[in-house]
Amino acid sequence: GSCLEAVKIAIDAGYRHIDGAFVYFNEHEVGQAIREKIAEGKIKREDIFYCGKLWNTCHPPELVRPTLEKTLKILQLDYVDLYIIELPMAFKPGDALYPRDENGKFIYHETDLCATWEAMEACKDAGLAKSIGVSNFNRRQLEMIMNKPGLKYKPVSNQVECHPYFTQPKLSEFCRQHDIVIVGYSPLGTSRDESWVNVSSPPLLKDPVLNAIGKKYNKTAAQVALRFNVQRGVVVIPKSFNPQRIRENFQIFDFSLTDKEMKEIEALNKNVRYVELLM
Ligand code: A2P
Repeated sequence: GSCLEAVKIAIDAGYRHIDGAFVYFNEHEVGQAIREKIAEGKIKREDIFYCGKLWNTCHPPELVRPTLEKTLKILQLDYVDLYIIELPMAFKPGDALYPRDENGKFIYHETDLCATWEAMEACKDAGLAKSIGVSNFNRRQLEMIMNKPGLKYKPVSNQVECHPYFTQPKLSEFCRQHDIVIVGYSPLGTSRDESWVNVSSPPLLKDPVLNAIGKKYNKTAAQVALRFNVQRGVVVIPKSFNPQRIRENFQIFDFSLTDKEMKEIEALNKNVRYVELLM
């Protein structure tokens, strides 16, 4: 139930872009929150930008549309605004979302990302997704899609880890040149959950530079980190279940960082990921 409440608070606070996924197991709550806010007259469906994700076990082309249809059924929505391939590698299809063999090793599955992409294009043509994109793709993987013979739609966005300690200078530049929007996940440096986060990298929000700059504007380090990305054209998807922090993370449009401050924050880049995705 916490996700239902958080999304409703977020919509009231002004958020319109909601980043979801089947594998987060809360799409039913997100869909309910959106539908309740529409029923209240607070928003219309077209005000919301919902991003859904194709999980690793669903890469074979014949699984793509049924998987999106399942997400739409859970959301109880007619379309998603953006549907993205969550990771550029596939697991064995089946009920297990993290299939492992008897030795505990992940069971991968050989698929052709270009064929998966063609199935994504078909979802757009069918009106089930307004736009299609990717996530966790590197430059070579993006190029593979973009150079695909008969490409109908290129990825509109690439969702990757992006924040002051991992600024993605090369990938950002490549995506900028090709008009692919970078959507930065973990823009606050993650929840530091040791089960999936590399916690040997220091906590982003304790950074002295971010805190000092925040002091000048009467903002928090979190707000400075978010503003930094927004100001350089990177979309941010901060996560919070706390009403006060949900609102705080939206209060980033009433100040701007100077060029000097932007450069100072860029210089914090450590080129170290929090989310290593070792699988
Ligand atoms: P909580 O849900 O309790 O607010 P990221 O978006 O980089 O994945 O970071 C999410 C983590 O950051 C969550 O643990 C979240 O906790 C916390 N968080 C979200 N907003 C703020 C904020 N404004 N200040 C400090 N921590 C925050």
